[in-house]
Amino acid sequence: MRAVDIIMKKRDGYKLTEEEIVFMVDGFTKGEIENYQMSAFTMAVFFKGMDDDEATSLTKAMLNSGDILDLSEIKGIKVDKHSTGGVGDKTSLVIAPIVASLGIKFAKMSGRGLGHTGGTLDKLESIPGYSISLTEEQFINQVNEIGVSLIGQTGTLAPADKKLYSLRDVTATVDSIPLIASSIMSKKLASGADAICLDVKVGSGAFMKNIESATKLAELMVEIGKKCNKKMTAILTNMDEPLGFAVGNSLEVIEAINTLNGNGPKDLLDICIEISAHLILDAGVAKSLKEAKDLALNQINNKEALNTLAKLIKAQGGDVAYVYDTNSFAKAKYITEVKIENAGYIKRIDALAIGNAAMKLGAGRAKITDKIDHSVGIILKQKVGDYVNNGDIIATIYANKEDISAEYNEILNAFSLSQTITTPELILKIVK
Ligand code: URA
Repeated sequence: MRAVDIIMKKRDGYKLTEEEIVFMVDGFTKGEIENYQMSAFTMAVFFKGMDDDEATSLTKAMLNSGDILDLSEIKGIKVDKHSTGGVGDKTSLVIAPIVASLGIKFAKMSGRGLGHTGGTLDKLESIPGYSISLTEEQFINQVNEIGVSLIGQTGTLAPADKKLYSLRDVTATVDSIPLIASSIMSKKLASGADAICLDVKVGSGAFMKNIESATKLAELMVEIGKKCNKKMTAILTNMDEPLGFAVGNSLEVIEAINTLNGNGPKDLLDICIEISAHLILDAGVAKSLKEAKDLALNQINNKEALNTLAKLIKAQGGDVAYVYDTNSFAKAKYITEVKIENAGYIKRIDALAIGNAAMKLGAGRAKITDKIDHSVGIILKQKVGDYVNNGDIIATIYANKEDISAEYNEILNAFSLSQTITTPELILKIVK
C-alpha cells in the first residue's frame, strides 16, 4: 500500500477500505507518513467526505492508537457527556452530580485544551485544593465509592487524534464533519463509558453554524457510537448566546452551584435536565424521558445533587466550604458595568465575542502554556429576548487589570438589538 494511492482514491471520490484508513492513521502516528501527505489526505476528505463506514474506521484507527480505559472494575452502567464547545457551558458540573446522586456512574476524563474560558477541569480548579490528577486505580475506586470523578487524562487516549488535530488546525481542515465526528468519538470511546450524550452546539459561537450541518454531525457521531455498541444520544442546542449568565471559571462554578441550589438560569437548567434525563433513561433508571426529567429535577429539589457535588470536591481534595458558601471564591479586583447605548429587544449576544473578551481578561488560554486567572470573567445581565433601554446595564466585567477598554467594547458590540422580539429556541433537535 502507498499513501499516495490512498490520497488519490479519496481525491477522486472513492470509498476507502478499513485497511487503507488504518494504514494512513498508523503510518502518520508512527511518523512514517509525512505531514504533507496527511495534509493532502485530510484536504481530500474535506472535499469528498466520508460515509459512515469510513468515518467509523477512522474513529477506530485513532481510538486504537493509544490507551483505552478499562472501566470494567466500576460496577453498574457508566455514562459520559461531551459538548462540542460553547461559551458559558458549565453543564458537566451540574449533570455529573445529578446522575451520580441517582446511583449512575459518571466517570469523566478530559483533556485541558484551549478555549475562551477554561474547560471543566480549570473551572473545578477555582476551588482550592481540587486535584485533577488521580491514578487510574484511585479514579476507579472513587467512582465505585461516590459515583463520580472528574479528572485530567491519564495515559494517552487517542494520540493519533492529537497529532492529526494539530495538523488540521494549520491546514484549514478542522471543519469537516467526518473529521470532527471521528476526532470527538475516538476520545469518547477511549474513555470507556456505556452511554454517551453529546451536546452539539449550533450557532455563531459553535463549529456548526446551522442546523443542517449540526444534524449531519450529530447523526454521524450517534451512528459511530452505535456501531461500537454504545447507547448514544445527541442533542442539538442553540449557541446564539452564551449559556446562562456567567462566563469565566469561578463565576461559572458559582452559577453551577446556584443551579444545584434551585436558583440557576432557565437555559442552563433546561439543558442540564435534558442531558441528565437521556443519560438516566439510557442507564435504565427511568422508563420514560418524562420520568427521567422528574427524577433529575427532584435531585436538585432535595439537594442530593448538591451534596454529591460536595462529595466529589471533598474526594478530590477540594475545600467543601466553597460549595455551601459561594462567597468563599476569590474575587476579581475591578468590577465594571457595561451599559448599552441604544434601546430595543436583544436579538443576539455573539457568544464568540463574549468568549474572546473573557479570554483577554485571563479566563481562558490562547496558548496551552497560558495561565488561567480563575476569578475574572463576565456576568451577563440580559439574555436574548429581553428589552433594554439606552443606558441599561447589560453585563458586568470582573477583571484584575485596570485597562479593560478593549474587552468593554467587544462585549458592547456583541449585543445586537431589534425592534421586534426574538424568542430563542434552546433545544433544537434530539438524535438517538
Ligand atoms: N473537537 C474535537 O475534539 N475535535 C474536532 O475535530 C473538533 C472539535
